[in-house]
Amino acid sequence: MKRYFFSILITLLLVAFAVGPAQHAQTPSLKDAFKSDFLIGAALNRRQFSEQDLRALPIIKSHFNSISPENQLKWMYVHPRPGVYDFEGADRYVAFGEKYGMFVIGHTLVWHNQTPDWVFLDNKGNPVDRETLLNRLKDHIQTVVGRYKGKIKGWDVVNEAVNADGTLRQSKWLKIIGEDYIAQAFKFAHEADPQAELYYNDYSLEDEPKRNGAVRLIQKLQEQGVKITGVGLQGHNRLTWPTREQQDATITAFANLGIKVSITELDVDVLPRVDEEAGRKIKLTPELQPKLNPYTAGLPETVSDEQARKYAELFAVYLKHRDVIDRVTFWGVTDADTWLNNFPVRGRTNYPLLFDRNGKAKTALEAVINSRLARR
Ligand code: GLA
Repeated sequence: MKRYFFSILITLLLVAFAVGPAQHAQTPSLKDAFKSDFLIGAALNRRQFSEQDLRALPIIKSHFNSISPENQLKWMYVHPRPGVYDFEGADRYVAFGEKYGMFVIGHTLVWHNQTPDWVFLDNKGNPVDRETLLNRLKDHIQTVVGRYKGKIKGWDVVNEAVNADGTLRQSKWLKIIGEDYIAQAFKFAHEADPQAELYYNDYSLEDEPKRNGAVRLIQKLQEQGVKITGVGLQGHNRLTWPTREQQDATITAFANLGIKVSITELDVDVLPRVDEEAGRKIKLTPELQPKLNPYTAGLPETVSDEQARKYAELFAVYLKHRDVIDRVTFWGVTDADTWLNNFPVRGRTNYPLLFDRNGKAKTALEAVINSRLARR
């Protein structure tokens, strides 16, 4: 009797072991699930592309076929002082992408943030003139794009040049050079690598006034004969924004310009919304924690399900437009490394990505993959 019991137990255990991994193996990875639709990318930090983050590495290798540099190619890192370029990190990033056969993105050439002050000043500390700044821009773009010619396949040439109301942002680039800084940047990039894809990248383009501004900007570039391959919709989303209709209308508006669309910085923020300006100044006191940082002990199932539904809804819209969508890139790999743990309030516990802090697949990952399987 006892022997009989043990043999049943062992059989059950064997079946459990066999079925467990087998089920796992049947779940396709993100890049395989969407292989006939678009590339699936992730923004990597330094530890990740240096292969030091052993939790993220297997996820990156199995789920993603495109990479973006979270910070490494921004002006302040790659060109910190006049005449001084530092390519140590960027070289490693590109080598990582080549090693694993990824579609490598460059981010970003012209931005109002993470650009050192010296770029806009002369040696007396006064603002430089148009010619000087244009020359600096040209040197920067030729040097950086030129170094990775043929290796970095697509560049976010200009990042975030449009205001919420659709007007052009009054950045130092605009104030010193004038509106044509955007066309000039695209021209310099095209000269430096004629094969590279060139994108305009921005957030909240799902809001109509801002979207219309970006559409006008791109039309103008096209009228001037400037090469622009596509638009990057950053996709820093929330549980309730953008709506399905806003996402759909936005992709259609840019597709109508005859350019490609990519989702370039995807995440779905689950924390209470805090205004950016105010958020930076907030110190999380024990009194503020429950209101502003409610999920330090874990994400409640209701919220995690809501997030999974939002992700599935977004991917259903992307799939509808698979003919114009080239790539969907997540801004990070796991919830442990997302910028949203520190933006706009420092030190929160956010959960915007598809893999949890231990690198485990979340409900949202399953929902995204199922959104694809449902179409077969
Ligand atoms: C913007 C930039 C990114 C990154 C995120 C926050 O979206 O384009 O490079 O800085 O903000 O991490």
